[in-house]
Formats: sequence, C-alpha cells, structure tokens
Amino acid sequence: MFRDPAALAEGTAREVIRIVAESLERRGRCALALAGGSTPRELYETLSQEPFLERLDWSRLDLFWGDERCVPPDHPASNYAMAREALLSRVPIPEDRVHRIRGELDPLEAANLYERELRSFAGGALPRLDLLRLDLVLLGLGADGHTASLFPETPDLLGEERLAVPTLAPQTPRNRISLTLPVFNAARTVMFLVQGAGKADVLLAVLEGESLEGPPLPAALVRPRTGRLLWMLDRAAAAKLRRGHDPRSARRGPPSR
Ligand code: 6PG
Repeated sequence: MFRDPAALAEGTAREVIRIVAESLERRGRCALALAGGSTPRELYETLSQEPFLERLDWSRLDLFWGDERCVPPDHPASNYAMAREALLSRVPIPEDRVHRIRGELDPLEAANLYERELRSFAGGALPRLDLLRLDLVLLGLGADGHTASLFPETPDLLGEERLAVPTLAPQTPRNRISLTLPVFNAARTVMFLVQGAGKADVLLAVLEGESLEGPPLPAALVRPRTGRLLWMLDRAAAAKLRRGHDPRSARRGPPSR
C-alpha cells in the first residue's frame, strides 16, 4: 500500500503503464476501462504528465468506461467530463479510440449502444459474455460497497447476462449505465483504486468480511476468473486491514495471457 494519495497515483500510474505495454506487446492492442468518481482524477492527471506521458503509446489504446452517469458529456457529474479534463484533453489519443457511454441518451438506449460498441470491439458476435476480455479495468469502491454503478440496492443486476445495463444509484444523478460483473470477471486485470480513511470500513468488509451476514457487496463479487485482481490502496484506506494483509496479492490469477 502507498503512504498517501500522491504516492498511490504515481504507483498506480507505473502499474497501468506496465500492463498497457504488456498488452500492446502481446496482443497488439489494449482495452482499458476507466473508473469514475473522484479518486482516479489524480491518477489520470499523473498519466497525462511526464515522465508517464511519453511512456504510453496512446495511439494504440482503446478507452472505455466502467460506468457513466446519465448526464451530458460536459456535465460536472459526467465521468467522461472528468476524464476529458484530467487526461483526454492532454494526451494524443485518437477520438475513434475513445468509446464513451452516451450519458445524454435514454438510459436503455445508451446501454444498448454501448453494448453494441463493446461487441463490435470484440469482433462482432459474442457467443459468451466472457469472450469480451478487457485488458485492464480500473474500479473505485463506494462507501456502501458498490463499484462502477452496481449498487447493493440493485442485487438483481448482479446476475445480468448483459455487457452493459442501466442502473439506479441511491444518490443523484440516479440514472447510470454500468458494465456488468461478467465483464469485470472476464477481464485480464482488474485494479481497484481506493484511498482515504472514509473507505477503511468498507474495504475491510469487502476484503475480510466474508462472514458478514446478508448478500455479498457488489465489489466483493468482482473476482476475475483467470485474470488478476489488484488493490491499489493508500495507508488510510488500508488502516483496518489485518497487519501484513497485502491485498494486492489477493486472488492473483495466472499472468494475463
Ligand atoms: C461513479 C463510480 C463509482 C466510484 C465510487 C468511488 O461513477 O461514481 O464509478 O463506482 O468509483 O463511488 O467514488 P470516489 O472515488 O468519488 O470515492
């Protein structure tokens, strides 16, 4: 774990660069799904500056989002707007490789459009959802245990056999679009980015609370089948974990193929 948010952003940027470079070398392309919320902003700004800026081949990266709020792309609550300000406006990524979720549309229409874009990226028909293998998925963790826009209040979504679904958040903007657990669990690497004392309790519940009564928290259901699960934490968020519990080694699958 990292001593503070700045160290977390820098350490995570190094790991993102390494994973993207490995994916481009092995497969000639890299599908990276960005996280929303506020935590990733410092990471995106770090990636858009030296020494990281020139170490990433932006022209060959395909950017997706794990979720989006149903607001226009220039709305202050838009995850795309945050990424555009902190990253996209500063790096040479071709427009046609930025696959944003159309938050300005009707939620179901936006989810269907995004699903079609994901299927097309995967080469058309997807006989099984787990054949869409994103190379790196960045996720945040909400204080209630949600991740992306999969919330404890909408457990029925957790079994969705879809790539992207409209969901409802307990807080505004309530209408969201989210990738689903099958997509996260088919990814080659999933990287949670969690910082601050406010997340210490929920992180403990997700990482060590298997015995808790009640349904598992959505974030605890993100368990990549063959991919790797990395927890990038600052010290404040990790404060309640058992001493020596380094979640970054948690459920590390075989190296991504
Ligand atoms: C969103 C995110 C959401 C976020 C968590 C953590 O659209 O809000 O996808 O899942 O990652 O709520 O948010 P913070 O980083 O702001 O704490």
